[in-house]
Amino acid sequence: MSYRVLFQSDAQPYRGILPLMQDRCQVEWWRAPELDSATDLTAIEGMYVYSHMRVEGALMERMPNLRVISNFGVGCDHIDLDGAKRLGIPVGNTPGVLDATTADLTFALLMAAARNLLPGYHHARGPDFIQYDASILLGQHITGATIGIVGLGRIGYQVAKRALGFDMDVVYHNRNRNMKAEEDLGARHVSLDELLSTADFITLNMPLTDDTRGMIGSRELGLMKPTAVLVNAARGPVIDQEALVATMRARRIHCAALDVTDPEPLPRDHELLGMDNVIVIPHLGSATVKTRDDMSQMSVENLLAGIEGREVPHRIA
Ligand code: DGY
Repeated sequence: MSYRVLFQSDAQPYRGILPLMQDRCQVEWWRAPELDSATDLTAIEGMYVYSHMRVEGALMERMPNLRVISNFGVGCDHIDLDGAKRLGIPVGNTPGVLDATTADLTFALLMAAARNLLPGYHHARGPDFIQYDASILLGQHITGATIGIVGLGRIGYQVAKRALGFDMDVVYHNRNRNMKAEEDLGARHVSLDELLSTADFITLNMPLTDDTRGMIGSRELGLMKPTAVLVNAARGPVIDQEALVATMRARRIHCAALDVTDPEPLPRDHELLGMDNVIVIPHLGSATVKTRDDMSQMSVENLLAGIEGREVPHRIA
């Protein structure tokens, strides 16, 4: 028995995924923003979403036999969840397995930004490095500093745990308080404005929703300390990017370290890419072999469960 699966990907899928579908699924590819008109959508039973192209309700409506949408990743902001709900199509994602990895990456960005690793890397290779100089590239002190976590959910919790290893004071801002983080880790819930104006390090770890889109704009950037480091490991659109460009151009804060941007990738001549006080990396939050393997396993389990009419084990909607 071979299930018909529409596989949405504008990139070469991670090597662990297709072998898990082997023998069970017949894959139809959806590689470009436009679907190939030759694809027989009426035969599709499951949809696998690999990269972050929009999946609209209107597309789902064209697949009357669609029984599940499985997303490779935890963030489902690119999928019309209301549309899926309206049509009764369960959507699966991959929570939990990438929390630690994404928190590690958040911290790697924080440390690289604080301690000027990228300018240091370039200096060490350039013609100006002719002698040791104890007065250059002085960074921001990490141990004992205050970290402000915007979005203390599963990933934010792991960021807070890491921060305790550096004797940091942890403040956070969420719509709802995270009592577990308060009890286990001593994290303190504060208003967004208090967080932005008191934290030395601000990490964005929230999902992209209507409430968080553009949450960090010029007013919010203006509240940050001149020495602040801003890390975005969430989604590009949670920051008003034009406001960020102006902030970094004016050197209003120490550094912005971005795992995600809007759009992604940025146009190659985008101003952020040329700034020495901005780090941009290509959405590497969950990019380790172990986590990718776990995500593959989980997402294919979700896919097969939905197609076979079983409960989708990790269901977001
Ligand atoms: C996630 O899991 O949401 C990652 O950003 C990959 O999409």
